[in-house]
Amino acid sequence: TKTAFDSVERTYAMIKPGTFEHVPSIISRIEESGLVIHRLKSARMSEEIAGRLYKEHDGKSFYPNLMKMITSEPMCVMELRGEGCVKRWRDLMGPTNPETAKRENPRSLRALYAKNITYNAVHGSDSSSSAERELGIVFGDDGKCPLRSTASATPF
Ligand code: PPS
Repeated sequence: TKTAFDSVERTYAMIKPGTFEHVPSIISRIEESGLVIHRLKSARMSEEIAGRLYKEHDGKSFYPNLMKMITSEPMCVMELRGEGCVKRWRDLMGPTNPETAKRENPRSLRALYAKNITYNAVHGSDSSSSAERELGIVFGDDGKCPLRSTASATPF
């Protein structure tokens, strides 16, 4: 049965490798913002999943670095829900390049926690259709299952 909750906007979020010590602060910022962490999984991303997720960037100059970074160590993947959450989460993240983030939005997660443009702390889908695609790839389903949290050091 479809409930009102099922039609709330959702997005796909990652707390990327290299950001482990900042996970609690980032989770707090998400909660303070009023977004709901509907699902959270801690795992290391396999090359297969990473390749599907970042397919549109295959061939770009930064692609090898992006793949190496994202598969380098365990991290947090999340489904966030809330009205307008695609944009709200991207606003919280700040611009891709941390130098720009520091100038334009010093409170943003990338301004505070990104090491550089490759290890830039967080990811968020750029649209609802990207979110559906990315959630499908990472959680391996249509995202309609109840809250589930798992922790694993093995590739998913
Ligand atoms: S693009 O080409 O306009 O789509 O690029 P952009 O949206 O800025 O970035 C897309 C994702 O690629 C990452 N990126 C990089 N990774 C490593 N090195 C460099 N130089 C680099 N430049 C961009 C960027 O962080 C985006 O990753 P996600 O995970 O989607 O945020």
